[in-house]
Amino acid sequence: MKVAVLGAAGGIGQALSLLLKTQLPAGTDLALFDIAPVTPGVAVDLSHIPTAVNVKGYGQDGLATALQGADIVLIPAGVPRKPGMDRSDLFNMNAGIIKNLVEACADNCPKACIAIITNPVNTTVAIAAEVLKKKGVYDKSKLFGVTTLDVIRAETFVAELKGLNPENVHVPVIGGHSGTTILPLLSQVEGIKFSDDEVKQLTHRIQNAGTEVVEAKAGGGSATLSMGQAAARFCLSLAKAMQGEAVTEYAYVEGDGADAQFFAQAVRLGTNGVVEILPYGTLSEFEAKAKADMLASLKGDIQTGIEFANQ
Ligand code: APR
Repeated sequence: MKVAVLGAAGGIGQALSLLLKTQLPAGTDLALFDIAPVTPGVAVDLSHIPTAVNVKGYGQDGLATALQGADIVLIPAGVPRKPGMDRSDLFNMNAGIIKNLVEACADNCPKACIAIITNPVNTTVAIAAEVLKKKGVYDKSKLFGVTTLDVIRAETFVAELKGLNPENVHVPVIGGHSGTTILPLLSQVEGIKFSDDEVKQLTHRIQNAGTEVVEAKAGGGSATLSMGQAAARFCLSLAKAMQGEAVTEYAYVEGDGADAQFFAQAVRLGTNGVVEILPYGTLSEFEAKAKADMLASLKGDIQTGIEFANQ
């Protein structure tokens, strides 16, 4: 198996690459690409860690080689959020980067599963889908927006509030990956009851957790380590699924369009990506209203991506 990370020298990219070097199955090839000159050095640094994952670094001219034969491509390349910036402010900078990188995926590894981390994910995934369609290689079961960070944050915050071990808490999170489009389904957390106030507070904290990090880093960037962990978890699940294990993760994917063209929910993964998108069950009144209220904004984000890719 071959995994490629595009944007591998960045804050997310390095954390993610470290976790993949230590946790991917033995024999996996790990290709690190970034336009930053330090990239081959990041690969050399990681190569000294004694695991049987073969890591190689590629600079500016190495994109095609990095992608050739890739089964999974993870994309955190982009510009991170600064204080006062909304995820949407990043759009113009990151949209062009995603378009170019996904075009290269279509040309060099058209059958790979592509997982997009670059924000705004609500929109960058729609751009990727349009680019792949234009290239004639779009397979909706192989394109993902990584929303695992929303799930791990929800689990952590619920555990913190209730004094539990976060490893035993499971929270479905559906919708999109920005602000109020992120919808934790607290009514479906097994064995835990929340008051109305707790639901409001937790939902607000989960939806604004990215800003919590941006403000705490005081100009030093946005979430990198937790995002690296989240993306690694998603990639490792995908790798397991591609090797025949049944795995379920939450991800932002194209489904039947009942809510929006792209919508995050639980997906059963298999050897070729998504096998089945699982229904999210009955929503509480609070959740049903939050979902209804978010759809216009999510659909707008998706439309922006479609228009960007086709301009
Ligand atoms: N191709 C490859 N890599 C690129 C490109 C490109 N066209 N453009 C930028 N990069 C690289 C940068 O060189 C840098 O190493 O992407 C990396 C981004 O790293 P950071 O600036 O540290 O940003 P990070 O915090 O990792 O966030 C990356 O994730 O959450 C999103 O919105 C965030 O889009 C941002 C991305």
